[in-house]
Formats: sequence, C-alpha cells, structure tokens
Amino acid sequence: MRIPPKGCSRDEVLGRLDEVAKNDLPWRSGRLFGYVFDAGLETEEVAKEAFTRFMSLNALDFTVYPSLLQFENEVIAMASAHLSGDENVVGSFTSGGTESILLAVKAARDFYREKRPGAGQPEMILPITAHAAFHKAAHYFDIKTIVTPVDSQTFRADVDAMRRAIGPDTILLVGSATSYAHGVLDPISEIGQLAAEHDLLFHVDGCIGGFLLPYFRQLGSEIPAFDFSVPGVTSISMDLHKYAYAPKGASVVLYREPGLRRHQFFGCASWTGYTMVNSTIQSTKSGGPLAAAWAVLRFIGEDGYLEIARRLRQAAQALKSGIQGIDGLRVLGDPPMSLLAFAADELDVFEVMDEMKERGWYIQPQLSIETIPKSIHLSINPSNVQWVEPFLSDLRDSVVKARTVPPSSLGAMAAQAFAEMDPVELTPEAFEQMLGMAGMDGVSLPGRMADVNGMLDAIPPKLRERLLVEFVNSLFRPATRG
Ligand SMILES: Cc1ncc(COP(=O)(O)O)c(C=O)c1O
Repeated sequence: MRIPPKGCSRDEVLGRLDEVAKNDLPWRSGRLFGYVFDAGLETEEVAKEAFTRFMSLNALDFTVYPSLLQFENEVIAMASAHLSGDENVVGSFTSGGTESILLAVKAARDFYREKRPGAGQPEMILPITAHAAFHKAAHYFDIKTIVTPVDSQTFRADVDAMRRAIGPDTILLVGSATSYAHGVLDPISEIGQLAAEHDLLFHVDGCIGGFLLPYFRQLGSEIPAFDFSVPGVTSISMDLHKYAYAPKGASVVLYREPGLRRHQFFGCASWTGYTMVNSTIQSTKSGGPLAAAWAVLRFIGEDGYLEIARRLRQAAQALKSGIQGIDGLRVLGDPPMSLLAFAADELDVFEVMDEMKERGWYIQPQLSIETIPKSIHLSINPSNVQWVEPFLSDLRDSVVKARTVPPSSLGAMAAQAFAEMDPVELTPEAFEQMLGMAGMDGVSLPGRMADVNGMLDAIPPKLRERLLVEFVNSLFRPATRG
C-alpha cells in the first residue's frame, strides 16, 4: 500500500475511517467492562473542543506556549490537593499510567545513583499484583524486580514478605491503590512505615484508583489513607484518562518534594540543535491531551465527580453481590471501589467469558499466576451503570451454559508439550505449532477464546510473554492492500 497519488476528498477520508472502524467494539454502548471511561456526551464534547484547540501546540517548549505551562501547573495543583499534597508536592503531566510509572521508577533509580554511588544493580520490590508497567520500567531501566506474594484471601500486599525482600540494593517499594486485577487497596500505611524505617522510596500506584477513592470515601465507603497523608509515601501516579474521564493520553506523577522529581528530568546541550530539556519521556508533545484534561476537570467539578461516583458505587455494589449470589462464581477479595474479579471452581470461567461475548458483553480474562486463580475482570465505568440487571441475568445464563461445555484437554496438552520449554528457544516452528493447537490460522483470533486462554493459562508466564511478543510481532505488518 502506498500514499494515494492524489489526495482524497474530506468525505471520502472520513467515510473510510468509519468503515474501517465498523468491527471495533462499540465503546459508547456501555457493554464493555474495560478500556473505556465514559462520562457521557456533554463531557466528550467539552474534551473534544479543548483537545482540538490545543492539539497543534507543542509542549516541547513551554516558553513559547505559556498556556500549556499554566494548564500543567493547574492540573498538578488540583491533583496534589486531591491526594492531600502539601506545598512541597510537585509533579508532571504525562501520557498515561505507564509513563507516570516509568518516570517514578527512573527518578528512584537516579536518586539512588546519586545517593549510593558504586552500589549494585538497583532492586524494586513489587507485590505480584503490581501493574505490568513496573516490570516494563524494570526492563527499560535495568532494575531487578523482587516480586512478593499477596494474601491469598484478600489479594492485598503481604508487608512481611516485602520486609523480608529488602536488601542493600533496594531502591523502591510499590503499593497499589487500587490494584488493577482485583481492585483491592494495598496496606499503604504499613508499607509507608516500612519504607520510612529503611529510608526507602515508596511509590503508590493510584493510576486507576487514586482519583475515585476519595469520592467513595465521601460517600461512606471505608477507604484507609493511601495518599500523601501517609508518612513514607514519596510518589504517586494517578491517571486522568480513567476515572477523571479525560480523553486518553492523560495522567500525572506526583512527588513529595522537588529534589526527587529532579531525577525524572532530562536535559541535553550536547548536540547541535536547540537546547533540550524534557520533563517527561516525549519531547514533541501535543497540547491536546493536557488542555482536554484541564477542561474536563473544570467541567465536571467536585459535585459532578461525586454524583458520578454515587452511581458507580451503587452499580459496583449491585454487581458484586449479584455475582457473589451466582452459584459457581466467587468475587476475589473484597474490592472497595469499582473494579472486581471473579473466579469459578467447578466450571471454566473463560467459557463464561465466551458466552458473555456471544451475548454482546466485553469482559476481560486474567490468567492464573502462582497461587492466584484465573479470573474475569470488570472495570465498571459510568456507561455500564444502566446495564447492571441485564448483565447479571446474562451472566447467570452464561454460567449455566458454561457448565455444559466439556472440559478442554488443550491446556493439559499444551502444559505437557511446552512446560519445560525455555522461552528463549521458542522457534518459529514451535510458535506455529502453538497457534495451530489454539485453533488460530495465521494471526486471526478465533471467535471463542476459551481454548486460547486455557492454553496460555497452562504454560509458564515467561513462555506466555514470549508467545505474545511473537504474536504481536506477526500482527503488525505493513498492509498490502487498502
Ligand atoms: C493500577 C494501574 N496502574 C497502571 C496502569 C497503566 O496505565 P496506562 O494503561 O494508562 O498506561 C493501569 C491501567 O489500567 C492500572 O490499572
């Protein structure tokens, strides 16, 4: 495929966009329990307007665009106040949770490089429920991860295990508020105390929960302190493109004091062009996401967020008790917010997912790891609220149907064939064989995913990772037609 030799008309281009998008999941439907955080059309309109007005401004140089500097300072001030920050707290606006986490980890690494010159490879202590972005940060910045278990009933970080994992090269402890997978809140005060005792940095991942938890607390939920009010917390990430309903590309990373954030920045005068100083990973950076996030925060306001949280809280409670009441399913832990995971003991929860897909719902599979069972995840967002009863009714039917599906032997076969395989030795032939076993021709996905998920579930995580990378490496290939 080549750039068209002659430009197309506006209508033609826009029509083609819609045509290409017709197989995407309908995100406005409210039937997706993941990826989407939709506060409705009015908010969307405000965000769009702000986004387009500022999309061509370049935050690379805030001296040319003082508006962007002002928006960022105001967004960070609002975020800091929301998380009990005092006048010393500083932060940056970033493109998302992953970038916020990458930056917090890099800042920790470089803080200790200065503080402990000549020390060994830095180590970061992660409860197994910490988001994958921390593993990505470790991979990018050459940090060793020490993964610790969580309580088998509550799925909250085991602080004693974290204590035992601390060594001379530890730089950072991590806790989640809340975790993604099970939506539970780690014991942040206890981890903070541990960090303070050992003079370590402590990052709270509030990417998904940091914005919403204070509203749930105001509405009567029991939410222990998790923010800068907790001694020992040194940095927090909080996404605005999740429960603050800003368009995607909006998060903040906050630090207890500027001396720590300094290690996040990068300046370069060792080349021939403009003197460069970047506060975040991107250099040229659209002003669109920042202006839109600023606009949405102001448009919805505290009263609006509280009202949305009230509806979300009711829906989350109804879904939690509804799922708990379905014979064969159990909610994992006691999630205090609007994310939850459920597992099944006598039937395949991945078959339930496929049945739900046939009924028009998107819910997300989570593979088992160590002692944590495989499960289905729901991230509840405002557009889901209208669907609580129909969702539960279809879930009941799906469970009944899933019980009738004979257990697949594929997982056992995959485990037998590949459990011993060293991931670095995954040959193209073995990759093809695995795809074939899962019923995949080339790179297209089968309609029902239970077998694919079952197979992935049966093989070790390192092999899963390798397989997924191979899969994606074959998926993104230059288009030949179009
Ligand atoms: C707890 C948590 N941390 C980090 C992230 C990563 O955020 P993003 O997908 O915006 O990079 C997520 C995303 O869901 C999350 O739930």
